[in-house]
Formats: sequence, structure tokens, C-alpha cells
Amino acid sequence: MIIRGQHGIRSYPLINLAGAKTGDPRPTSMNPSTDTAIKYAELRKDQLDVCWQWLSSGLDWGPDDVVLDIGCGTGAYSKLLLDRGHIKSITGYDKSKEFIDVARQVNFEEGKTIYEVADATDAATLKPEWKSAFTKAMSIAMFQFIDDKKAFFKNACWCLKPGGYFLMNFHHGNVMGTLETMRQYMSDHPKWKPLTKDYTYDVYAACLFRGTREQLEQLAIECGFSEAHIEERFCYYYGNCSEDDFKSFIDIQFEQIQHIPADRKKEFIDDAYQKLVEINERDEQDRLCIKCPTWILTAKK
Ligand SMILES: C[S@@+](CC[C@H](N)C(=O)[O-])C[C@H]1O[C@@H](n2cnc3c(N)ncnc32)[C@H](O)[C@@H]1O
Repeated sequence: MIIRGQHGIRSYPLINLAGAKTGDPRPTSMNPSTDTAIKYAELRKDQLDVCWQWLSSGLDWGPDDVVLDIGCGTGAYSKLLLDRGHIKSITGYDKSKEFIDVARQVNFEEGKTIYEVADATDAATLKPEWKSAFTKAMSIAMFQFIDDKKAFFKNACWCLKPGGYFLMNFHHGNVMGTLETMRQYMSDHPKWKPLTKDYTYDVYAACLFRGTREQLEQLAIECGFSEAHIEERFCYYYGNCSEDDFKSFIDIQFEQIQHIPADRKKEFIDDAYQKLVEINERDEQDRLCIKCPTWILTAKK
């Protein structure tokens, strides 16, 4: 039995980042430029060990595995799985072309990695050759940005071979996490509220899943999986991150920032960072620990 109910490890790194959907009329959490994508790839590299603890405790990986990474971002964790999971190959896709361009440059291995632009909620963007092609699929910190969760599950299942496994982690919306608290705080902030009044649609808040674990397990089964199990964990992002790194994340992740005049962005980011420090704790090594309400889903086709 590969699906595991209990895990010994309780702390994982998680950072959210949404990409832009080309042609999508709604505002998006970010539209990464090549520069922010490169910065994101660098920051992700700081978390490989902790991510590997999570991945290796979720499923068994081996040389027969042909794996799909859904919402792979800049491919840091696709490459991690290739290197440490000793899998046969990994195909990563993401809807952000900028991320995929960076993935192809910095997390490439000849004959073993493929990175493509595709939308996890739009079956028409998936490659025909992905149908029932993968022994396993994973998706890291991405489901919280998905509006059409049914389409997402159906498409994830479609890519798996019969008997294949799917592993994903994501933030749910039943408890206020750091990002939600900060977004709310900055939206209500008397200094910034007048400048961000045109900011009306928060992709992150709108897409967070707010039902029960059983409801989501049931949805995965309705979409084609034969079994699904969700485990709740509180995850912490322990940076090797400096203050500047955290500020880069704020710059990348806050939708409101699009409405802030360029000459006041630094001030906005400083205020957001102060809130981040205020609502999170430091560990014994004085590192900021960012608390995220997280569910881990393991499903079998
Ligand atoms: C927090 S990032 C995680 C990236 C990567 N999994 C990692 O952990 O480094 C979320 C990713 O989901 C991607 N994304 C969001 N919605 C998507 C969709 N509908 N289809 C494909 N990718 C999507 C974003 O572009 C972004 O790269």
C-alpha cells in the first residue's frame, strides 16, 4: 500500500505564487517577468531538503516512474525529484511561459526533463501524448490557485496510467494562513486602501478550498480517482531567507502591488514585511517560520 495515512515529518516549506493565465480577464496574483521568475527559481532552491522530506514521505519513487509535475513553476522540485527520487523522467507544465522558460534553462537534464506551457484546468492545452502516460503525478503549492477544481482533478487523472498515484500539497481556506492575513491587512490598511480600491478580485482568496476534507476526497473520486486521502498538517516555511528574500516574495505575490505607484512600492513592501514579522514566530535559530494551513492529498487512479 503506497498511500500513507501518517507522516512523521511535520514542517515543510511552502510559498505561494500565482501565475497569469493568458487572456484571462480577471486580475491575477502575478504575471512573472523573466527577472522575478529567475529570483523565484533561486529562492526555491533554498528549500530542496525540506521539500524532499515531504515528497519522499508521501510516495515511493523509483526508476520505473515517469512523473508529471502539474504547476511546476520554475521546475526546482521537478529536478529535485529527478535527482533524489532516481525516477526515469519528469514532465513539468505550468501556465506561466516565463516560469517554463526559466525551468528549461536552470532545471534541465537532457533526455530526462520536459517542460511545457499548459493550463491544468483546460484539457485542450494538455498534450495528447500525456493521456494515461504517467505512473505518478505531483502538484506542489498550486491547487490553491485553481478555480475549476473539478477540471483540475479530471485532467490530473487523465494523465495517469491506471493504478497511478497523485500527490499534492496545498493551502486550504478553513484557517487564516499568513498570506490571507497579510492580504487582508494590506487591503484594509488606511494608508494603502485608497490606492488599492480598484483591487477587487483576490484570486488567492477566491480559489482557496473552504469545504471539508471528506468533500474534497469525494470530489477527487467523482473525477476519476478510485481512492483519495487527505491529511492535515501545519506547514512552516523556514527560510534560509533573508529579509530581502521575504520582500521579494511579497513583491512577487501581492496582487495589490499592481496599483501602487512605483515610487511607493518599497514603502508598501516594508509595511507588509512588518506584518509578516508580527504574525509569525522565530525558531531557536532566529529564523522566521511562516505558518500555512496545509492539506496533503494522495490519490490513486
Ligand atoms: C506557488 S507556485 C508553485 C510552483 C512549483 N510547484 C513550486 O513549488 O516551486 C504555483 C504555480 O502554479 C501555477 N499555476 C497556477 N494556476 C495554474 C494552472 N491553471 N495551470 C498550470 N499552472 C498553474 C503558477 O503559474 C505557479 O507557477
